[in-house]
Amino acid sequence: MEPWQRTHECGSLRTEHIGQTVTLNGWANSVRDHGDLVFIDLRDRTGLVQLRADAARSGDLVHEAAAVKPEFVLSVTGVVRHRAPGMENPKLETGEIEVDLLRLEVLNTCRQPLPFPLSDESQMTQVNEELRIKYRYLDLRRPRMYQTLKLRHDAVTMIRDYLNQRGFLEIETPIFTKSTPEGARDYLVPYRLEPGLFYALPQSPQQYKQLLMVAGVERYYQIARCFRDEAQRADRQPEFTQLDLEMSFVTQEDILQLIEGMTIQIVEQLSTKTLGSKPFTRLTYDEAMRRFGTDKPDLRYGLELTDVGEAVRDTEFGVFRSALESGGQVKVIRYPNGISLSRREIEELTNFVREFGAKGLAYLQVDSTEEVQIRGSIAKFFTPQTLKRILEETQAQSGDLLLFAADRPKVVANVLGRLRAEIARRLNLADPNVLHFCWITDFPLFQWDEENGRWDAEHHPFTMPHYEDIPLLDTDPGAVRALCYDLVCNGMEWASGSIRIHRKDIQAKVFQLMNISEESQQQRFGHMLTAFEYGAPPHGGIAPGIDRLVMFLTDNENIREVMAFPKLGGGSDPLMGAPSPVDPSQLDELSLKVIYPEKPAK
Ligand code: AMO
Ligand code: AMP
Repeated sequence: MEPWQRTHECGSLRTEHIGQTVTLNGWANSVRDHGDLVFIDLRDRTGLVQLRADAARSGDLVHEAAAVKPEFVLSVTGVVRHRAPGMENPKLETGEIEVDLLRLEVLNTCRQPLPFPLSDESQMTQVNEELRIKYRYLDLRRPRMYQTLKLRHDAVTMIRDYLNQRGFLEIETPIFTKSTPEGARDYLVPYRLEPGLFYALPQSPQQYKQLLMVAGVERYYQIARCFRDEAQRADRQPEFTQLDLEMSFVTQEDILQLIEGMTIQIVEQLSTKTLGSKPFTRLTYDEAMRRFGTDKPDLRYGLELTDVGEAVRDTEFGVFRSALESGGQVKVIRYPNGISLSRREIEELTNFVREFGAKGLAYLQVDSTEEVQIRGSIAKFFTPQTLKRILEETQAQSGDLLLFAADRPKVVANVLGRLRAEIARRLNLADPNVLHFCWITDFPLFQWDEENGRWDAEHHPFTMPHYEDIPLLDTDPGAVRALCYDLVCNGMEWASGSIRIHRKDIQAKVFQLMNISEESQQQRFGHMLTAFEYGAPPHGGIAPGIDRLVMFLTDNENIREVMAFPKLGGGSDPLMGAPSPVDPSQLDELSLKVIYPEKPAK
């Protein structure tokens, strides 16, 4: 028998095993040498158990145990015993027992010192992340990391079960393919057999899933890897995973219900968090922008924006007056109990909003709502009646600071939306134990692209307009609402989808508005347009991000924490040493030549 034929796993031992002889395998998490008494915490993926080598009972094993170093791989046999009274460890699930060693075999040693200590979770925040990713195989030995991988697996298993029970087929689509527009740069793969041709890695399986609908599959999903060469942020990686899904003969409502049911099941069965609303909150895009200044509102707290344009219409204050006269808005957010902020702190907030395009941040300090005692940079410009109306409309309380943005609606929304999140952060308003999901619907179909003087698809060019808005494509494209929806959780977008255009005439019109010539349409999407001429059913779908799901289930604000082998900023992988130069002969084979950019003169 191999020595590592174990009888139990470390984390499974309890008082009921007392008296049993067990064989365990694992890594030495820590070794504590007290001379004639040595303790080793043995770790496998199920947890830790304390091993004990005692000169009186275990003889020479004490010396062998003392020679063990952290992360040695061990196979041990011993007898489960109750720990000495007072020595129990309530923090460990196996904390009432220990294993008295009868046999210890070192299956493999481990190089010392370790690049970072694994046994003390509290020290991990100080470890450089690049180092952790370079030695990811060690980093992943930490129970916390294993638990995240396990949760990710459990969530994906639950998703598969949920969809399989509802008649979906899981189908793989190609990785070597052609560019599909999701708004990022493509990763390209040169084609060896014909110089100058490239595959693109898919930014999503969007086109294939629509073709599967033309193919009559009706219900498709895939746990799909997507590739996007875009600026990285805490919630973005260059390769990531979507639950990609598409259905035929559906309505928007069918898709919302399906995904909502799945999400509730995942949260209720896999986490201890509570749902902020059930059924999920629904907001139209316009309402979300009006009330929260963003299409990704965190609804765990209120702090809604108030439009005071009417109330201040006759003001002498030039900034507000000129904003309103040029078709802009004046909106306000409350900073609860903000009168305690010093002038310098208000200046800091002003600098914060300037980054998002604000020209300034006018404010009023509400000392008392009773006698309308108000101070602030702009109080002198308003009559007592106007001040009273502002207090009523903003529902200000005594002690609040009112912060104003006056500008074009887009700027006002961005500035106050960011400020809302910042105030909530400072005041700790978001309950970490709540997941508040919110559907955002009725996005505009297009946004106006100033730079290129054309309409651009808000989601992607295959998105269907609201049926009653179709005539507006000819008269007022900016007013056309899309059958498009996002699912937002605690201020983060986690899913996005739409009903697709299955009619050639509508698709042609959309391309026309986007200024995509017939020739370019044929070149980029000819295969789709052709397919749609062969009886495409009405269809639609959605794609929730799997990484982001695990982020909010595990309270990780950094997407790298929920991936086994993430990339660093800029897309590099310090573990594999990728990207890396290739052998010149490989470049020759691909008929490629690298032209290095000239180094800037010093
Ligand atoms: P979209 O581009 O909105 O839609 O992406 C859908 C979801 O994928 C996740 N996601 C990402 N996660 C990590 N890193 C990234 N770089 C990244 N980019 C996107 C997000 C996002 O909500 N084909 C459409 C879907 C459809 O219409 O069915 C699409 O890809 O969670
Ligand atoms: P000023 O008239 O430039 O001295 O500004 C008076 C106050 O209005 C200051 O508190 C500015 O920060 C603020 N302010 C200036 N421009 C804007 C704007 N577009 N929106 C809101 N407040 C502004």
